Amino acid sequence: MTQLVMGKSVTYEHTLPELNPSYRLLLGPGPCNVDPRILRIASAPQLGHIDPEFFGILEETAQLLRWVFQTKNEMTLCVSGSGFSGAEAVLCNLLEEGDTLIAGSLGFFSGQIVEISQRAGARVINLETELGKPLAPEVLEQAFRDHPEARIFATAIAETSTGLWQPLEELERITHAHGALFVVDAVCGLGGVPMNIDEMRIDACYAGSQKSLGALPGLAPVTLNERAVQVIQHRKRLVQSYYLDLLKLNRYWNGDHAYHHTACSNLVYAMREALRITLEEGLETRWARHQLHGEALRAGIKAMGLDILTQPGYEERRYRACCIGTRIASLRLHTQSRCRPCRR
Ligand SMILES: Cc1ncc(COP(=O)(O)O)c(C=O)c1O
Repeated sequence: MTQLVMGKSVTYEHTLPELNPSYRLLLGPGPCNVDPRILRIASAPQLGHIDPEFFGILEETAQLLRWVFQTKNEMTLCVSGSGFSGAEAVLCNLLEEGDTLIAGSLGFFSGQIVEISQRAGARVINLETELGKPLAPEVLEQAFRDHPEARIFATAIAETSTGLWQPLEELERITHAHGALFVVDAVCGLGGVPMNIDEMRIDACYAGSQKSLGALPGLAPVTLNERAVQVIQHRKRLVQSYYLDLLKLNRYWNGDHAYHHTACSNLVYAMREALRITLEEGLETRWARHQLHGEALRAGIKAMGLDILTQPGYEERRYRACCIGTRIASLRLHTQSRCRPCRR
C-alpha cells in the first residue's frame, strides 16, 4: 500500500514491525518514568465507560483524589485530558463573558491562565512576577483595590518553568477579603508539595497526572468546593464547552454516572494505582522525599558551578531551574546517550 505521508510517498508492507520505543530516563518535572505497577495495570482488560464495575472504580478513584487533595469536596474528579484541560475546565466553568480575573503569572505555565481566561471571555488583570519570584501580596492587594469587580484570583502553587514554589496563605487571605474565588494550578504540585485544599481554603484547583503523582499523562484531577460549585450552578449562560462542563462531568463521576463522554478505563486504572502507591508511601513521607531529592539536585547543580534561577527560600521541592544557557544542548545530548544502555 502506498500513501502520501507529510508530502512523501510511503509504501507500507502488509505487516509492520511492532513499536519498540527507546527507554528514556525522564528527569524533567513530568512526564516521569512511571512505576511498573502502573504500566501493568494500564494494560489490564478494558472496561466500558458505562460498565457498573467501572463506576465503582471511578468512585473509588474520586475518593482517593479527595484524600490526595485533602478535601471533602464532592466535586472531585478527573477531566479526560492533560493538565491544561483541567485549567480550561475550571476557568471556563467559573468565568462568564465580561468577568474580571486577576492572574498571578509566575512563568510560562501559570501565564497560560491569562490566555485561557481571555478565550473564555474574561477581562484579565495580569500580575506578572519577575521570573523565579513569587507574587508579592501587596501587589495583589492593590490589584483588588483597583479592580473591586474582580471575581477570581488564579495562580500556581508550583511554577514548573522557573522551579518556583509559591506560598499561598497571604494571597488566599487577600482574595477572600475581597470576596473573590481563589483558584490554584497544582499541575506540578499535587503529590509533591504540601497541599491541603480545605485547610488552605482553595476554592478550585486543577492538577496533572504525570508529574508529582507519577501516573500516565491524559487525566487532570480537579476539585471545587461548594462556593465554586454555586457559581457554576448560578451561571447566566451554559458553559460554552460541552466536553468540559463540570456539572455534567461531576454527574458522570460522582452522581448517577449518566453518560457524558467515553472515559478511558485504562487511564483511570493507572491513576488509581498511582494514588494507591501514594497512599502506601504516605503524603508526608512523599513530600519529604521530594524535598530531600530536590535538595540533593540543588547541591549537585551548585557543585557544577551553575546558578539556581529561583529566589532562595521559594524553590519547588522536586526540581530546580538553573541558568545554563547554551550548555543545555550538549547536556541534553549527553543525557540521551547515557540513557541508551538502560534500554529494557
Ligand atoms: C504548572 C503547570 N501548569 C500547567 C501545565 C500544563 O499541563 P499539561 O502539559 O499536562 O497540559 C504544566 C505542564 O508542565 C505545568 O507544569
